[in-house]
Amino acid sequence: MKICVLNLSGNVGKSTLAVHLLAAFMPGARILSVESLNASAANDVAGLDVEELSASRFKDIFRELMMADEVIVDVGASNVAAFMSEMQRFRSAVGEFDLVLVPTVPADKQQRDTIATIDWLHGLGLDGRRVRVVFNQYATDAAEPVEIVYAQVLGYAAADGQGKAVFAPHAVIDRNEAYEMAKELGRTVRELAEGATDWKAERQAAKRSGDMEALERAMTGQMTHDLAVTAQRNLARVHAMLFPQEAAGKHAREDVPETATAEAVAPRRRA
Ligand SMILES: Nc1ncnc2c1ncn2[C@@H]1O[C@H](COP(=O)(O)OP(=O)(O)OP(=O)(O)O)[C@@H](O)[C@H]1O
Ligand SMILES: [Mg+2]
Repeated sequence: MKICVLNLSGNVGKSTLAVHLLAAFMPGARILSVESLNASAANDVAGLDVEELSASRFKDIFRELMMADEVIVDVGASNVAAFMSEMQRFRSAVGEFDLVLVPTVPADKQQRDTIATIDWLHGLGLDGRRVRVVFNQYATDAAEPVEIVYAQVLGYAAADGQGKAVFAPHAVIDRNEAYEMAKELGRTVRELAEGATDWKAERQAAKRSGDMEALERAMTGQMTHDLAVTAQRNLARVHAMLFPQEAAGKHAREDVPETATAEAVAPRRRA
């Protein structure tokens, strides 16, 4: 799989999704972080294979893209304009991607930029079935439906945007502090969720010994773990939606009834 995470806007969660929604589910995948040097702090996760390249070295990026089998290209805001103009010079580069993920968030400007990004990809000739919108930073406590929160993008989906990207079923990533915590700890949400530490036992031991620091650590650890489990469930659901073939294969192997009935993003081999 070769996947690009792209949006003209910064701060929509491109790096976050590249790490936690993609790389964490693709053992051995490399993240190509298209950023100015040392700007890709969001990708500083222990154990991930991250390479930083600026868009000015597009030929190197293109070479890597042609060589690699499993790669995630995360285009940072600092380099998106340069990256897009290089994609226009090397017109076949976009065809290397099995999937282009376009994350969007509720803010108006970001929704407008999301629409412009999809239009631009369409102009480049990319098959709309390979462009997938991910609705990020959905506030679960606001009780507003997705259709209202992302009204601009979904209005576009029903009109001009038809056929230019896959919008439905809505791939929604909830707002969750676990992403910030994971970034601070340099870990993936998945690792935090799967961590085996028995925080309750740690807390009891800390209480018995009167170690206030250890007690605080145990309480924070438990809350972080809870949030990470919630985020990871959400990520796994959205991942299965984006890659239904993988999910179906996994379910078949585990002999569990298939639940992912999401519309498939057209796989390259059938395109
Ligand atoms: N679903 C989410 N819930 C909570 N926080 C999130 C979520 N997604 C992203 N964030 C936070 O939002 C901020 C921006 O995310 P991120 O760095 O991934 O954006 P980006 O699109 O890569 O930005 P840039 O274009 O500048 O590289 C980060 O602090 C990240 O932790
Ligand atoms: Mg980024």
